[in-house]
Amino acid sequence: MQGLLLYMAARFRARPGDGEPRQVFGHRNLEIGWTAAPALILAVVFVLMLPALRSASAPEGDALPVVAIGHQWWWEFQYPNQGALTANELHIPVGQPVHVQLESADVIHSFWIPRLNGKTDLIPGKTNYLWLHAQEADTYLGQCAEFCGIQHAWMLLRVVAQAPADFDAWVANERQPAAAPAAAVAQGQQLFTQRTCINCHTIQGTSARGTVGPDLTHMGSRQTIGAGVLDNTLDNMRRWLKNPQAIKPGSNMPDFHLSDADVDALAAYLEGLK
Ligand code: CUA
Repeated sequence: MQGLLLYMAARFRARPGDGEPRQVFGHRNLEIGWTAAPALILAVVFVLMLPALRSASAPEGDALPVVAIGHQWWWEFQYPNQGALTANELHIPVGQPVHVQLESADVIHSFWIPRLNGKTDLIPGKTNYLWLHAQEADTYLGQCAEFCGIQHAWMLLRVVAQAPADFDAWVANERQPAAAPAAAVAQGQQLFTQRTCINCHTIQGTSARGTVGPDLTHMGSRQTIGAGVLDNTLDNMRRWLKNPQAIKPGSNMPDFHLSDADVDALAAYLEGLK
């Protein structure tokens, strides 16, 4: 900006006169003035901003720290103080500031909940931060706002802001390992741990310890499947397991050509993980 102003000033000064004696000193003072004034204003604003910049990168007071990790194409949310972890659906307490640390597992993503904050990038190898502060209990919809590959459009997320007591109850449940499945769906758990599912997914309380895909310990309690691509219902879980690539092409969830019986057993098991 200053460079542009100086360039314009130089051009103005170089223009041949039209017979009138040029007011060289008047113009020069004007140039110095319009260059120095904005520079001074920017310098003052910069100094005033420094404390805000510093506070943005560290949680303070009663802030709830959360780590958000962008993956192609889903979100991982960690609660370091609570020892809890979930995916795609961030729960926060109403009225308490939430300090979100943003990381990426692969490419650049962007965290955007339009009703709660502006867009902030999640950049591999660099940590960014943002604050969330929900004033009323609601579900706030958001999405990845940086093109990150073929399923960028289906990298949705949602923030569930709850009364503090409800949030505490949610955290307490999240911290529990998956409940032992009822006899009717025990076959689903057996399939899950015998097949390749465990290479990518974790279900606390079982031998499934993969971290490539979302943690599924409480899958049944989430609102959506596949980071927002389907509502989380038993029927949709069947559709998803039957052929994920038909629903979210390019995602890391392969089509395992499961039989209908296996799909039914797995879907019943996963939907029972509340
Ligand atoms: Cu992640 Cu777009």
